[in-house]
Amino acid sequence: MSASSSGIPSRWLVQVCRHRSCDRGGSEAVLAAFRQHQSPSILVAESDCMGQCSAGPTVKVMPGNTWYCRVTSEDVPRIVEQHLGKGELVCDRLHPRFHPPA
Ligand code: FES
Repeated sequence: MSASSSGIPSRWLVQVCRHRSCDRGGSEAVLAAFRQHQSPSILVAESDCMGQCSAGPTVKVMPGNTWYCRVTSEDVPRIVEQHLGKGELVCDRLHPRFHPPA
């Protein structure tokens, strides 16, 4: 399932939380999976706690201020292809606190 966002910027920033709760949930593998797709147009960075510990691993994508929750390494190819490649949000991983269902 996908939804249109505001298009494809020249550069994405993907932040992956590596703090305690997210790390216990597997954020190291999520970060490694995103790093495989790192390019001049996709910057990948690890971050400290983003305050969403109960729904981690937490991933934030800028521009667009998109928050993903409970991300697994298996979700990463979809996020890369769908969101970063086509500008379409991956709805089933959107954090409902920031992206309430319509
Ligand atoms: S530990 Fe990842 S959001 Fe808090």
